[in-house]
Amino acid sequence: MKIVHVASELFPYMKTGGLADAVGALSAALADNGHDVSVFIPGYRSSLEHKDAAGAQRKLRLKVEMADDFLAADVRVFSPRKNLRVFLICREEFFDRRAPYGNGERDYEDNAERFIFFCKAVVEMLRLGDLQADVVHCHDWQAALLPVLLREAERRHGVTLALKTIFTIHNIAYQGVFPAKTFARTNLPDELFHMDGLEYYSQVNLMKGGILFADRVTTVSPRYAREIQTSEFGCGLDGVVQTRAEDIVGLLNGVDSAVWNPSLDPLLPARYSAVNLSGKGVCRTELLKRCEFAVDFKGPIFGIVARLTEQKGIDFVLANRDFFLAHECRLVVLGSGDRRMEEELRTLAAAVPQKVFLCAKLDESMSHLIEAGSDFFVMPSLFEPCGLNQMYSQVYGTIPIVSRVGGLADTVIDADEDPVNGTGLMCEPNAASLRHALQRALVLFADKPRHAAVQQRGMARDFSWKVAASGYEQLYRDSL
Ligand code: ADP
Ligand code: GLC
Repeated sequence: MKIVHVASELFPYMKTGGLADAVGALSAALADNGHDVSVFIPGYRSSLEHKDAAGAQRKLRLKVEMADDFLAADVRVFSPRKNLRVFLICREEFFDRRAPYGNGERDYEDNAERFIFFCKAVVEMLRLGDLQADVVHCHDWQAALLPVLLREAERRHGVTLALKTIFTIHNIAYQGVFPAKTFARTNLPDELFHMDGLEYYSQVNLMKGGILFADRVTTVSPRYAREIQTSEFGCGLDGVVQTRAEDIVGLLNGVDSAVWNPSLDPLLPARYSAVNLSGKGVCRTELLKRCEFAVDFKGPIFGIVARLTEQKGIDFVLANRDFFLAHECRLVVLGSGDRRMEEELRTLAAAVPQKVFLCAKLDESMSHLIEAGSDFFVMPSLFEPCGLNQMYSQVYGTIPIVSRVGGLADTVIDADEDPVNGTGLMCEPNAASLRHALQRALVLFADKPRHAAVQQRGMARDFSWKVAASGYEQLYRDSL
């Protein structure tokens, strides 16, 4: 099949979270299965500076209609592996920035223009670049306008640009909602700015467009597909999602075993596997050193790697400060984002630097070291469309402590509730329930044989993208 992916992030060219990992691994898995795969992302500064893009060819210069103007886009293309091409949609004014969505304080004011432009440039490229896609697969709000733009362009020009469109919701909490005046930039017919179209309480809602106009809609875990049809998790779009209930399927993300694999991981000081865990001990010592903790510490290390947002349940961790102070344990947090959460974590780390460490930046190699060097990985999310770190943890022999929501509930089994199959510890998304799980973690850690059994079961699980990619292949075939 000829498959086109469109997303705002793609590992290793731009990453702020799991979207990049998921799109990177899925597109590579599909290419390895022999499909002709193209991925479109914006030409961010980090993408252009990446070594893979050094030999990128200038493919086309497009003129993109935006309301009454035409703006130029340069398209560059390179091929990082067989059957896979990466297209960068370049326009300095919009994408030559370090961070993709905002400056840390707030979102960029021109995000609507930037991503409408991105989607329109992809449509133009599909029209003029002769890609003949069987499937155009769009991810999250930044690419959500494509299904409707494609159909409109096909009508206008009397051509077929894609046989089918798929829209994947990685996180319904981010919808791309902009003022009504933004709609003019789409050049779509006015009747689409309506409650059965892109209009949402008098604003433009891009994700709503993706949900309504794609041929099929997917979420990144089966449970999340059900959750977002309820008012508790639907973030106001539950009614819209319900109208597509027949066409929604939840396909669990996987783990890219070329990147997240303790027996191959070049970012670790030592490699290890389930049969020989000695390398995990080396990683632990290195992690203790990096955090400036006593290196001979023998108790449990709790790790966190997360965007600091309400979603990730960081406030439940902060509400349990005294737990980390009272017990002989260590807490290592890698994360940046929300200023208040960052400050509170910083204050905690400054108060007990011998026990709590905060690394408040994006650091790919530290994220691997935490997964490898910790004993428990803490992820008490309020909601979690899929979540990758709880799977990485199991693969790295680090026991996940997660809340019972979304993809976390689909990928972790509580070891107290199911002593035969358990691979982690589960809680409800609140501080008291997290505390109970943390206490259960101490009990588990003290019971070496049981701890080892839970760890081994996690390491034996197959989260590979082979399974996930075949789910998408099946979906593409069904839709065609
Ligand atoms: P989300 O996409 O909601 O952020 P996921 O669990 O799906 O959550 O994926 C998060 C990804 O982002 C993981 O690969 C994780 O290691 C990475 N990540 C999050 N914060 C950081 C950070 N500060 N530095 C490096 N990697 C990070
Ligand atoms: C989103 C979700 C996360 C998911 C990731 C990749 O960022 O928050 O749960 O794992 O997308 O699909």
